[in-house]
Amino acid sequence: MSSHKIAVIGGDGIGPEVVEAGVKVLEALAAVEPGLAFDFRRFDWGSDYYRRNGRMMPQDGLTQIEGFDAIYFGSVGDPNLPDDITLWGLRLAICQGFDQYANVRPTRLLPGLTGPLRPELGKQIDWVIVRENSEGEYAGVGGRAHRGLPIEVGMDVAVFTRTGIERIARFACDLAMSRPRKLLTVVTKSNAQRHGMVLWDEVVREVVRDHPGLTVDWMLVDAMTQRMVNKPGSIDTVLATNLHADILSDLAAALGGSLGIGSTSNMDPSRNRPSMFEPIHGSAFDITGKGVANPLGAFWTASLMLDHLGEPAAARRLMVAIETVTDRGEYLSPDLGGVANTAEVTAAVIAALSGANSTSSSGLPG
Ligand code: IPM
Ligand code: MG
Repeated sequence: MSSHKIAVIGGDGIGPEVVEAGVKVLEALAAVEPGLAFDFRRFDWGSDYYRRNGRMMPQDGLTQIEGFDAIYFGSVGDPNLPDDITLWGLRLAICQGFDQYANVRPTRLLPGLTGPLRPELGKQIDWVIVRENSEGEYAGVGGRAHRGLPIEVGMDVAVFTRTGIERIARFACDLAMSRPRKLLTVVTKSNAQRHGMVLWDEVVREVVRDHPGLTVDWMLVDAMTQRMVNKPGSIDTVLATNLHADILSDLAAALGGSLGIGSTSNMDPSRNRPSMFEPIHGSAFDITGKGVANPLGAFWTASLMLDHLGEPAAARRLMVAIETVTDRGEYLSPDLGGVANTAEVTAAVIAALSGANSTSSSGLPG
């Protein structure tokens, strides 16, 4: 039996709490799912590591984890350290270092949950947002000059390359084709940004031409927010830039009931290097250490990781267990209107695993 080698990086805030809950759930899953096994290895990188060592991870950090099958990540961010140090020193260093250019964020209103939309609209949410994850507005290119003077300047340059656009467009088209509706919405802002966004439109259009069975429509990002709220059922797969998808995916998570359940994969689709799986909530310092963080985002994330590892049956079984717990409504954390703590939600999902068989899925192909 070969076991999946997983690098576990809890990171900061509630990250370690939810990721350890996720490891428990995965171990329980391995106990009931024939042939499934994991080899977890912990890395204590993050802001505390920074306070001890002056870096967010060791200099050879990427080398230490590049041989793993996947990275299971909590969150990063610390109230006493600048965000650009913590993020660029760990999470973005891994995303960029491993060229995880596809950030994939599924959203569904899980059974039993009520989001802010009217129920008949909320039920229509079944989306996957594909976020360009290596360039665009978050490329990290730019500079500061004339510090402290009235003429001080700060610039972030949005970088769009033909290669970068083409590969994410291809990924999004393939993903959309693998879903029943074969429907892709491309988000742009080429009416206002007339260089990079125009190249984006042109290159995406070329890639779309290679996918004859795909239905494609185009939205300006501002109008897209209204469509997500007013006509959620008209959307399936969404392709957007780094910045646009960052914003749209928070909106999606809120419409899906809570930021506490959103999940993400940072993928290197070429599979040359490990992909990284993380819940989308941040470190949440207001509730850190209280044991009340919602672990469902970390569990849904684990289901995405199982799909990626080529374990679709286990991925479905975990998703069904999560949905059983949300549907019963007995063990929900405070962000979902319940009173259960992290350990109780975890125990409920583990209990549901033994009963769960495969009728749902994370919504993504492996
Ligand atoms: C997210 C987060 C991060 C991002 C922040 C913390 C840099 O908002 O995963 O969406 O934008 O990548
Ligand atoms: Mg974000």
